[in-house]
Amino acid sequence: MPVLDVLPVPDRPWPTGRITLQSLREAARGCTACPLFKHATQTVFGRGPESARIMLVGEQPGNDEDLGGLPFVGPAGRVLADGLRAAAIDPADAYVTNVVKHFKWVPRGKRRIHQKPSAREVDACRPWIDEEMALVRPQVLVPLGATAAQALLGSSFRVTRQRGRDISTPLAPHTVATVHPSSILRQQTSGDREREMEHFIEDLRVVARLLDDGDDTPSHSL
Ligand code: URA
Repeated sequence: MPVLDVLPVPDRPWPTGRITLQSLREAARGCTACPLFKHATQTVFGRGPESARIMLVGEQPGNDEDLGGLPFVGPAGRVLADGLRAAAIDPADAYVTNVVKHFKWVPRGKRRIHQKPSAREVDACRPWIDEEMALVRPQVLVPLGATAAQALLGSSFRVTRQRGRDISTPLAPHTVATVHPSSILRQQTSGDREREMEHFIEDLRVVARLLDDGDDTPSHSL
């Protein structure tokens, strides 16, 4: 019988003593709180400085992130980097992470195809993102796409309707949700990709203005 199938109860190792991003990252390496660890290469924890004023939160690592061990280093990461640059947001001011820390995939031929994480998998991973938010205490929280937005803001949140708005939440002084960068890559025509990219940049400009203003009063309630 394969060793992985006889592992005992799910476990979420946790740092002992003072919690820092580094101690949290190290503990998360051994997380078996849901079955996703079994088929992923490694835990992909958040990256960026604890002093970051923006926290960008995606769904889960993709194929490149799973292999590289860092979030948003593949095609979606390049779209995100282009969006930040166009909105004049310094990437050094951003902490980038995911609500789920292991890649969920199914094989198709030689490729590994992304699968949406279940609500149970998102819940099992929740303590990691909660602690990342508590340590970084971002000025602006930016959920990217429906999975992250609904995990953080509730299942009735609709990115299509509520994107790009400065929303009042208990999680950060400002929360501005937008689409997942991979949704831009999935557009069928170059015209659609350009239009979606412009809209994404507009949402990120809202984030940039909030940082410039330094005002802590959000303009919309959830
Ligand atoms: N998609 C995500 O949601 N996160 C990543 O890190 C990469 C792709």
